[in-house]
Amino acid sequence: MRIAFYQFAPELGAVEKNRERLAAVLEELEADLVVLPELATTGYLFTSAEEVSRYAEPVPGPTTERLQACARRRNAHIVLGIAERADDRCYNSAVLIGPEGVVGTYRKMHLFYEEKRLFHPGDLGFPVFDVQGVKVGMLVCFDHFFPEAARTLALRGAQVICHPSNLILPGLGQLTTRVRALENRVFWVLANRIGTETRDSRSLTFTGRSQIVAPDGTILIEAPPDQERVGSIEIDPSQACDKRVTPLNDLFADRRPTWYGLASV
Ligand code: ACM
Repeated sequence: MRIAFYQFAPELGAVEKNRERLAAVLEELEADLVVLPELATTGYLFTSAEEVSRYAEPVPGPTTERLQACARRRNAHIVLGIAERADDRCYNSAVLIGPEGVVGTYRKMHLFYEEKRLFHPGDLGFPVFDVQGVKVGMLVCFDHFFPEAARTLALRGAQVICHPSNLILPGLGQLTTRVRALENRVFWVLANRIGTETRDSRSLTFTGRSQIVAPDGTILIEAPPDQERVGSIEIDPSQACDKRVTPLNDLFADRRPTWYGLASV
């Protein structure tokens, strides 16, 4: 399976322009699974929930339909970070799009900072989907700080975790995602964005350095911090089914869940 990311700087509020830019890249990209950044059609630095709602789209909707055409032409699957509008709520979502349309949606569970004023927290759990016989899960940006999120996906069989992001804390997400890949023995595709957004007196710079990590924690591909980049590599997803770190240690079989007591804390 060939997996890829596209690192770029969406233009804030320019949904149609961002959508066409994504489509132009996806039309040319040879990969089975392509991961795009968080909120890739809208940008990030919103000032109100009303503003989010103006730019958010239903799923399926115009962007997923446009990218479905790319997926069909390339026989690929695409993970898109999108502001999703559903009834009167907006979610910070990741959508898996295949040649036949939307395969599944994940809604960001752990909202970062002012996102708590802008989005509704995720309510679809941590689903795992099938892409060409490979089990794929999705997380969005700040979810990387919560080991339970990646663990839940891995225990459900995820072999590849797709991670659309708008990381702003330098170096942290690139570090934790390596650890999450290593401790769960999964492939990890971190698709981060670049660029700076400024609204009124606030300014955010996104940290790039998108990466694809192997189940042993090795960085297979890393993008620069500030340049648009496609990263793409052939992987053997079956490597993520082997959870051994020594002949006598299987990271899943060795767990002691009855002693963790996580349900009650
Ligand atoms: C983030 O969760 N976008 C930092």
